[in-house]
Parts: sequence; structure tokens; C-alpha cells
Amino acid sequence: MSLSAQAQEKKANVVVIGTGGTIAGAGASSVNTAAYQSAVVPVDKIIAAVPEISKIANVRGEQIFQIGSESFNDERLLKLGKRVSELLKQNDVDGIVITHGTDTIEETAYFLNLTLKSTKPVVVVGSMRPGTALGADGALNLYDAVLVASSKDAAGKGTLVVMNDEIHSGRDVTKTNSFKVETFRSPYGPLGYVVEGKLMFYRLPARPHTTQTEFDIDKINSLPRVDIAYN
Ligand code: DGL
Repeated sequence: MSLSAQAQEKKANVVVIGTGGTIAGAGASSVNTAAYQSAVVPVDKIIAAVPEISKIANVRGEQIFQIGSESFNDERLLKLGKRVSELLKQNDVDGIVITHGTDTIEETAYFLNLTLKSTKPVVVVGSMRPGTALGADGALNLYDAVLVASSKDAAGKGTLVVMNDEIHSGRDVTKTNSFKVETFRSPYGPLGYVVEGKLMFYRLPARPHTTQTEFDIDKINSLPRVDIAYN
């Protein structure tokens, strides 16, 4: 086997599932950081815009939806979860990245954190600015997400959300601001950081997730309706 083939073999295989959101958004001008159209750029084009990714992992894109994340519903959540579960069972898949709108990233990440039955890394990622904007954050967020999804250090830590150089637990993280890139916060802080292609974990999730819960995405075909009475 040639040296380059050997190097290729060592790289993790990561599937990037595209669902839409601002990370797939485009604005009319480079100063449009808040007014733009989300969910228009195909996932393969988002991946191709970050050629550095091919140095850290063998990546392939899969477009499951092209929607704003406010359009997630039970049906889409189940379809996404079941597809992720199916991919995680494949020996040639080491990790999954899901590109997602930020408005409901925390709901999807928490749902997957509770229902996937695998220790392989699953990372949900988005961006606060479209790729066309000055200071666009999607490219680095995607690079960091692929790095985390490729890492054995990220295995067994539940579904993760990677944004703005930080690795958050899907259980904890919440969006706290509608335009700042540092919007994602966890009450107990992030699990770790990603800096210049290196990830560092500082703490572990203590609450049950993925393989430790009673929920199995493969066995869930509908979700119970829960009404909320605001008071
Ligand atoms: N409506 C939003 C969504 O898909 C776009 C905002 C975002 O992704 O930050 O969640």
C-alpha cells in the first residue's frame, strides 16, 4: 500500500448530514450578517468550501432536509434519528456531523442524546452568520465539528454541539442570543474546546445518555403529545 493510501486509511470516515439552517444560508451582500436566506446551500457545497476538512477526515455529505430548524417536527426528528442510527451501525462510519439551524439545535441534540444507541461521536453544528457574510463562522464550526466527530476522545460522551470553538453536551446547551456567535451556553460550562485542530475535554457528562437510557430510536415510531399550558 502506498504511503498516501496508508494516510488515507488512518483518517476517520465521517458523514455530514445536511438539514439546512444558517450554515446553509446566503445573503445578498457580505454585510448581511442577520438578514439572509437560510437553508439554500447544499451540504456538499458547504463541505467543499472547507478544503482543510479533507486533511483530517474522509467526509461525505448527505442531504436529508433543506429547512429552517423551526420547521423540524416529530416526523423529521424521527427520520433524522433513524438515519443517524442506521449510519452509526456501519463499520465504515466512525462519526456523524449534522448541520442544523441554530433555533432548535438544542432540541435535536438533546433528542439524539437520549435516543441513539451508539458510542460513536455525533456532533450537531450550525452557524450564526451565513457563509456569504464578513466574519462567517460556519466554515470553522464545520471544521471543528468534523474534528470532534473524528476523534476517539469524543466517543461515549453523548450527542455534542460544537459552535464557536466550544464542545457542549446536547443535554446542557441552549441558545441565549439571536445574533451573537457566542450565543450557545451550558449552565455548567462547555465540556471542552477546539483550538487550531486540537480538541481538549475538561469534564464529562454525568447524566445518562445514548447507550445508558431507556429510549431507543430504532423502536420509536411516534412521539407522545405533550401540551404546555403557559401561566
Ligand atoms: N431560522 C433559523 C434556523 O434554521 C436560521 C437561524 C440559524 O440557523 O441560526 O434555525
